[in-house]
Amino acid sequence: MNHQIIQWGEIKMKLEKLLEGVRVSAIVCNQWGDTGKGKFVDFFSNWANIIARGTGGANAGHTINIGGEKYVFHLVPSGILYDSRGKYNVIGNGVAFDPLIMKGELDVLLTNGISFNNLKISRNAKLVLPHHIALDRLVNTATGETRIGSTGRGIGPVYEDHVGRRGLVVNDMLNPKVFREKLENNLRHNLILLREKDAKAVERVFESEALANGRFYDPRDVVNIDEVVKAYTELGLFFRNMIIDTDDFLVSALDSKKILLEGAQGFLLSHEHGTHPFVTSSDCSIQGLAKGVGLSEKHVDRVFGIIKGFYMTRVGEGPFPTEMGGDKSVDWCKTKDRKFEETTYPNPDINSDDEFERGIAVRKIGQEYGATTGRLRRVGWLDMPLLRLAAKTNGVELILTKLDVLDGCRKIKICNKHDYFGQDYFLGDSQLRFGSTFDTAVMDMAVLSHCVPKYVEFDGWRNDITQAKEYVALPHNLHKLIDYLETSGFKIRLLSVGPEREQTIVKG
Ligand code: IMP
Ligand code: MG
Repeated sequence: MNHQIIQWGEIKMKLEKLLEGVRVSAIVCNQWGDTGKGKFVDFFSNWANIIARGTGGANAGHTINIGGEKYVFHLVPSGILYDSRGKYNVIGNGVAFDPLIMKGELDVLLTNGISFNNLKISRNAKLVLPHHIALDRLVNTATGETRIGSTGRGIGPVYEDHVGRRGLVVNDMLNPKVFREKLENNLRHNLILLREKDAKAVERVFESEALANGRFYDPRDVVNIDEVVKAYTELGLFFRNMIIDTDDFLVSALDSKKILLEGAQGFLLSHEHGTHPFVTSSDCSIQGLAKGVGLSEKHVDRVFGIIKGFYMTRVGEGPFPTEMGGDKSVDWCKTKDRKFEETTYPNPDINSDDEFERGIAVRKIGQEYGATTGRLRRVGWLDMPLLRLAAKTNGVELILTKLDVLDGCRKIKICNKHDYFGQDYFLGDSQLRFGSTFDTAVMDMAVLSHCVPKYVEFDGWRNDITQAKEYVALPHNLHKLIDYLETSGFKIRLLSVGPEREQTIVKG
C-alpha cells in the first residue's frame, strides 16, 4: 500500500509537469468510444478544479468503484468522486440530459454517502423525455429503417428535436406552464411518428422498464401528457439548485480555474466527422465538446486523444475495416451474447490462426462488453488511416490504454493504408478507381465500406507488462510499436498497463 502511495505521488508529479501552464485540457476518444476515458478523467481530475461534460448523454457508460463495489454510471460526470474536495462537476448545454436516469444515479451516490454539492447542470442541456426513448427503441426494431444499433436512450430523437426547433431544455422543468406548452407543441410532431408504428409495439415499449413500466403511456393518446408534466416538473424541483448557466460559469472560470473537458463516445461516432450514418447524434470531437460546454476549441490548450493500445472496438452497426473475423464477427456480435460466446469458446487463443477466434480472445481479455447495453463489442486491429483522420480535428497527442491486453500476442498488425476496391466513384473534384489507396481514411460510406486494410506486421511481446512503472521498463517490441506511432507524427503522452491508477506511465 505504502509503495502504491509513493508510486501514485510520483505519477501525480509527472502529470503536473505535463500539464504545466495549461488552463483547459480535454480528454476525447479517437476511436468508437470505450477506450478507457474514465480512468484518465479520474486521473486528470486531481489536477482540475472543474470537470465538464459537453456531449452525449446516458448512451455513455463508465464504471466507478465505490467502496469496493462497481457501479455503472451514464450521466454523472466521471469526476464526481472529487466533489467532496471542492471540485465542480458540470453537465454542459450540449448534453442530452435524462433527469430520471440522473436522479437514479444521484440516489446511488446518496446511499453511499457521496456528496454532489458542486454538481452544476446547464439550464440549456437538451431534455430527454419518455417519447424520445420510445422512438429510439421503435426505430431500432422496425423493419425498413436504417438499423444503426443505438443504445436506446433517446439520444437521436432528442437532438433531432433540438435542431428541429421543437425541443425542450432542462430549464423547462422549472416552469410547468411553459413545459406543458412546449411539450404539446413537440408532440404535434412526434405523435405522428409514434402513430405510424405498430400500436402493439408502441404499447410494449412504453410498458417496458426503461419507460417506467407504462407510467407515461396512454392507450388513446399514446403519451400521458399530465403524467409527464407532473413527473418532470417534480424532477425540476429536485434539480433546481443545481441548474445554472454553465456556459457563463465556464467562461468566467477561464482565468482563474483549471478546467478539464470530459469527452463521451469517440471521434468516429461523431455525427459531424464519423462513419455517418452509423454514428451517434452529437459531435464527439473536440469541436463539439468545447461547444457543448459553451467554450470554443481555441480555449483548449491541450487535447489528449485516447486510443486502445493496438486494437479497436465498436459496438453497434457500421463499417469497421480491420475487424478480426470480418463479416463472421459482425454477425456473431449482433446475434450472440456473452454467455453463449463463453460457452462456445471457453478458452479462445489470442494466437489462433483464425482471426475470428483471436478477436474473441481479445474481447475476453479486454473485457470488451458494452457498459450500457452488455453487447459484445466488435474487435479489430488499429486503423491508422482512421486515426490520422481523427488527428486532423483532435490533434496528435495520444493516450494509449489497455496495452496489457495484448500481452503474449505473438503478432500484432497495424493497418497503415486503405486500399479501395470499389467501383469508379466521384469524390468532389477527384475520381476514385479500383485500387486507389489512402493514408488518411475517406469518410464517405460508399468509399469506406469498400476499403480493405493494408497491414504492417510487428512482433508482439511475451512478458506481463502490468507491473511496469517506467517507459524504459516496457518490452523492446512494444517500444517499436510506439516508435512507429511517433514516426507517423503522433506524440504518446500517457500509457495505461492495467485498470488501476498506479498502472499508468507518464511518457511526457
Ligand atoms: P446512440 O448514441 O444511442 O444513438 O447510438 C448510436 C451508435 O453509437 C450505436 O452504434 C451505439 O452503439 C454507439 N454508441 C453510443 N454511445 C456509445 C458509447 O458510449 N460507447 C460506444 N458506442 C456508443
Ligand atoms: Mg463507455
